[in-house]
Amino acid sequence: MTTTTGTRRGDPWNGALGRHWAAHDQRFDAMLGDIDDALFAAADIGPGDRVLDIGCGAGATTRTAARLAAPGHAVGVDISGPLVERARARTAEEGVGNAAYELGDAQTHRFPPGGYDVAISRGGVMFFDDHVTAFANVARALRRGGRLVFVCPRAPGPQSEESTALGLFARRLAEDAPDGAQAEADPDARAAHTAMASLAEPYQVHAALHRTYERIAVNPVDVHTRWGDSPADAVDFLLSRTPRRQVSAATRAALEDTLRPYATARGVRTRAGVWLVTAVRRDDARV
Ligand SMILES: C[S@@+](CC[C@H](N)C(=O)[O-])C[C@H]1O[C@@H](n2cnc3c(N)ncnc32)[C@H](O)[C@@H]1O
Repeated sequence: MTTTTGTRRGDPWNGALGRHWAAHDQRFDAMLGDIDDALFAAADIGPGDRVLDIGCGAGATTRTAARLAAPGHAVGVDISGPLVERARARTAEEGVGNAAYELGDAQTHRFPPGGYDVAISRGGVMFFDDHVTAFANVARALRRGGRLVFVCPRAPGPQSEESTALGLFARRLAEDAPDGAQAEADPDARAAHTAMASLAEPYQVHAALHRTYERIAVNPVDVHTRWGDSPADAVDFLLSRTPRRQVSAATRAALEDTLRPYATARGVRTRAGVWLVTAVRRDDARV
């Protein structure tokens, strides 16, 4: 269902999931911050650029883009009311005058045609209902020759510490359920988790982009995701996703143990794999 602002009702990002991201935006930024070096090196944003940040969340990358683009500007678009509100508040706090936000579904949002030089996204492009339509809509927003640069999760291999650690964490938590039931999870959050993998294979990226982009490159990058200052702090954060869930002291200790192998001087960090995708809007794209 689409509202007049272009956001879908019942969207997980306008429910508990979006509110959780908005309440913990700096945590999530620390979690994903390791991606920024690769994203911004590839995006090569320079003074005067007009940047579109797709699925910008609380806008950390929009603000970085805006600083790089000055005297140009950056616009973040996101489907989540709570996150756009948080992005605007953070931008005012940080005094970034050339970053702005629009609430909308990037798949259908009416962007100014050819209004941007580069579109970026840090993990905001996996959730579309129809990737081909969505990336064509973004292509319409790009000028001829405009660049698309995004990062999305790779299918976790055996080397993925993140998937190993979070899998073990979930199993320990499920064992604590009094009736042996699985830990309750917001169904919307589960849907978003499934969507996270929608571009996990390069063929999926190519299928989504090839009609409206050329020079498509899909390169693996290894990053570290950061979950907290210490195992106890990381457990607090991970349990905050299910606030009604009570866990025993013994389970909490077992949960901390699952994360202890990843405790470093720079916090609890797990190795994870992402794709860095770069492409250029096709001149002959029928956008
Ligand atoms: C994993 S979060 C990443 C947020 C942000 N890019 C960051 O790095 O902190 C995914 C974001 O995509 C947004 N999103 C999901 N579907 C969207 C859509 N169809 N149009 C615009 N934004 C969308 C969500 O609201 C959420 O903010």
